[in-house]
Amino acid sequence: MESLKEKIASLKQLFHTQLAQTKTVQEIEDVRISFLGKKGHITEILGSLKTLSLDEKKEVGPLLHSFKQEAEEALKKHAADLLTQQNQAALLRVQTFDVTAKLPNQPTGHLHPYTQCIQDVENIFLSMGYEIWDGPELETDHYNFTALNIPKDHPARDMYDTFWTDKPDHLLRTHTSTIQIHAMQERKPPLAGIAYGRTYRHESVDASHDFQFMQCEGLFVDKHVTVSHLFATAQTFLKTFFNKETLDIRIRPGFFPFVEPAFEIDMRCVFCKTGCSVCKQSTWIEVFPAGLVHPNVLKAGGINPNEYTGFAFGFGLTRVVMLRYGIDDIRLLLGGKTGFLEQF
Ligand code: FA5
Repeated sequence: MESLKEKIASLKQLFHTQLAQTKTVQEIEDVRISFLGKKGHITEILGSLKTLSLDEKKEVGPLLHSFKQEAEEALKKHAADLLTQQNQAALLRVQTFDVTAKLPNQPTGHLHPYTQCIQDVENIFLSMGYEIWDGPELETDHYNFTALNIPKDHPARDMYDTFWTDKPDHLLRTHTSTIQIHAMQERKPPLAGIAYGRTYRHESVDASHDFQFMQCEGLFVDKHVTVSHLFATAQTFLKTFFNKETLDIRIRPGFFPFVEPAFEIDMRCVFCKTGCSVCKQSTWIEVFPAGLVHPNVLKAGGINPNEYTGFAFGFGLTRVVMLRYGIDDIRLLLGGKTGFLEQF
């Protein structure tokens, strides 16, 4: 009897010594198993209680139960303390991690030419009162074609070599004009906004064409919008973006089913006066496809074409980045070569 009481006392000491030495959750679990597990010390003594007399049970039973309770609480507390310590250590690591630290002579990074140009494009249009919109790259046939006045079997679909996906009726958008419909459905006129982003066409890659490139769409819808608003907007954007005090633009007829009339807006070559390789000796650069929003497109966007008119444009953002920096191969832009990027 006395020896059982002594055994419990020495087990208690052993338990606390072992628990104090644990440093991981697994070690705490090992101590729990060795005392409270199926074959643990406490469990074993509890099992042997039935062999004792009633008086002995009365004396040892409460001792054992309080040890069991004490052990369970101590295990719980130790695990909680350990977790707190670990969290504090992690927090300290985060707090003392200097994200701006750099090695001596380590080159400083800078914004990608795309990002630099996007910031300028955004600022120019924001200054003209436009909003910045966004839209999905995975589109439906409806938003990419049908709502833009390009119904099924329309020959204009051949202008876009399309990446269709496994998801029925879904494709990677071939142009950012999809955003015209989203914008009109989500807002009420008057509305003015731009949206830029990646577009995809199943085309062979060469120096001026990629299967993935960037476009920037613009849409302006209000009462009495005319082509002169469009031309003034194009001219203001191009001369500000290319940093020219004056910049002539030239307007030619174009064809896009979602605008009527449609235009190709060219700008005077920003590199030469008499002809160069960029303008192919013509002194003009084709840069800004645009037009007045077709009444069918306004209707698809939920806007009454008898009440409102608008203009839209969709220029190659990739193209204006290449023009601004004189980049002659589109593949360099997303190639990730530091030797190339360091120039900007
Ligand atoms: C369109 O995509 C029309 N959505 C533009 C538009 C919007 C017209 C609103 C009228 C009103 P287009 O297919 O021409 O048009 O493409 C526009 C620009 O995207 C081109 O001028 C060119 O700069 C760029 N682009 C087209 N295909 C590629 C390509 N494979 N690689 C790089 N740039 C491309």
